[in-house]
Amino acid sequence: MRFDERELILKDGRKCVLKPNSPEYAEQMIGYLKETSAETDYLLRYPDEVRCNVEELQRMLGGFLEDPHVIKMIAIADGKFAGLISITGLGPLRRLRHRCSMAIALYKEFWGLGIGTAMIGYGSELAAQAGWTQMDLEVIVGNDQAYRLYKKCGFIETGVRHNAVIYDDGTCRDEILMYKDLV
Ligand SMILES: CC(C)(COP(=O)(O)OP(=O)(O)OC[C@H]1O[C@@H](n2cnc3c(N)ncnc32)[C@H](O)[C@@H]1OP(=O)(O)O)[C@@H](O)C(=O)NCCC(=O)NCCS
Repeated sequence: MRFDERELILKDGRKCVLKPNSPEYAEQMIGYLKETSAETDYLLRYPDEVRCNVEELQRMLGGFLEDPHVIKMIAIADGKFAGLISITGLGPLRRLRHRCSMAIALYKEFWGLGIGTAMIGYGSELAAQAGWTQMDLEVIVGNDQAYRLYKKCGFIETGVRHNAVIYDDGTCRDEILMYKDLV
């Protein structure tokens, strides 16, 4: 989906722009996926599981831009790629078409500056305009920073998915399920 850029001032006074992701960012995206998944245990992917190449990703990003059921928003803070929020519809089935699903991750150097709050706020506006009435997400138990962000942004906890993730050392963690009404 294409949408207007939005500017914000971060808590440390630097400027940040929220804008649609596009093919020109494909190379930076690969670095971002690898580095952010190494910076936290609370994402689903290990860094060695980022396998797409620049050309594939350029094609995908071009497709997302034209797809009204996909919102890929990046934050450029102080001129640097800071992070991404992804909002996608559950599909065209009439019984599911009211719902979208959200995921977000920022580079660690940009945590705690208000970018997450701004991205969820703008992403929720765009999702409502796109016609979705409910946004769902999952957060791994222990990810207090993300959990607090979601509560602050109006998400409500509805349950727990048992042993949703398993780490390479064999330990498992549950996920908390949350939703937010967009109307
Ligand atoms: C989770 C994440 C997106 C939060 O984004 P952010 O830009 O750091 O969040 P914000 O600065 O907007 O802070 C929002 C709220 O989060 C909470 N928060 C922020 N930093 C926190 C910290 N260190 N510990 C606990 N809560 C914290 C606060 O409630 C804050 O609200 P406040 O500023 O009014 O006090 C970001 O930390 C991140 O990318 N983490 C790694 C990837 C990840 O875990 N993604 C989510 C997977 S479900």
